[in-house]
Amino acid sequence: MDEFAALLRSIERLAGFRCSRYKEDYIKRRILSRMRLTNTEDYEAYHRYLLANPQEVDPLRNALTINVTKFFRDPEVFEVLQREVLPDLARRKKTIRIWCAGCATGEEPYSIAILMHELTALRRDINVTIYATDIDTGVLQKATAGIYDEKTLENVGERRIQKHFTRRDDGMLEIRPHIRDLVKFRRHDLMSGIPIARYLDVVTCRNVTIYFTEGQKNELAHLFHSALAADGYYIMGKTEYLGREVEHLFTPYNIAQKILQKPA
Ligand SMILES: C[S@@+](CC[C@H](N)C(=O)[O-])C[C@H]1O[C@@H](n2cnc3c(N)ncnc32)[C@H](O)[C@@H]1O
Repeated sequence: MDEFAALLRSIERLAGFRCSRYKEDYIKRRILSRMRLTNTEDYEAYHRYLLANPQEVDPLRNALTINVTKFFRDPEVFEVLQREVLPDLARRKKTIRIWCAGCATGEEPYSIAILMHELTALRRDINVTIYATDIDTGVLQKATAGIYDEKTLENVGERRIQKHFTRRDDGMLEIRPHIRDLVKFRRHDLMSGIPIARYLDVVTCRNVTIYFTEGQKNELAHLFHSALAADGYYIMGKTEYLGREVEHLFTPYNIAQKILQKPA
């Protein structure tokens, strides 16, 4: 077995991360970023380092599942959600269910929860649930805690901060229970082929598929199609696109913001 293959086997065993399911180029780039930071010069040296230093497993797993995110990332998408998509659902439904797939540390589902709360504050008849899932249990712990630094809130106005966050003594901002309670965090692997629920009204899966091959992206489109109710919305990341083979599953709702709709 070559050095790289041996390293991947150890990563799968130690970090529980199935490297073989991802593009090799991507895995190599992420491992190289750890090699730079650990001053190891080739795969063999990094492999030795990983086996001798159990504390390397967590940062390596984080590097493999990069989970950079922030509140209201790409604010224009959230403006369309606030102005059009969510009010459309609130007009048609008494129960609104949303799935944020690949939610990382929770900023995206909490941003949607803030919009939903503001929209339905005077509508006690509407029930909202946001399922927020990720493969990485470390980020889910952070998401559940709901404690953030100012930087991740740079797109949140002061009025919203005051209404939906508590400022702690250490300067961090904690999401308040009226928002937190709308979101249910769960571990879920998007490659499992199993949807978290069905008849959903919105699925967001943004900035996740850069890790996936074309075939996996197509399978994901089928998964989200089966998870959505007719007329439900599928929101992709700004740089993501639907492959030719699965284009027919959705109709464009807002092309610029990558918002699609499952045909009725
Ligand atoms: C860059 S973050 C995106 C966060 C958020 N959606 C956003 O756009 O700001 C990508 C997330 O996808 C998650 N991820 C990667 N592969 C996954 C898989 N197979 N199943 C579920 N989540 C996955 C990573 O753990 C990471 O937290």
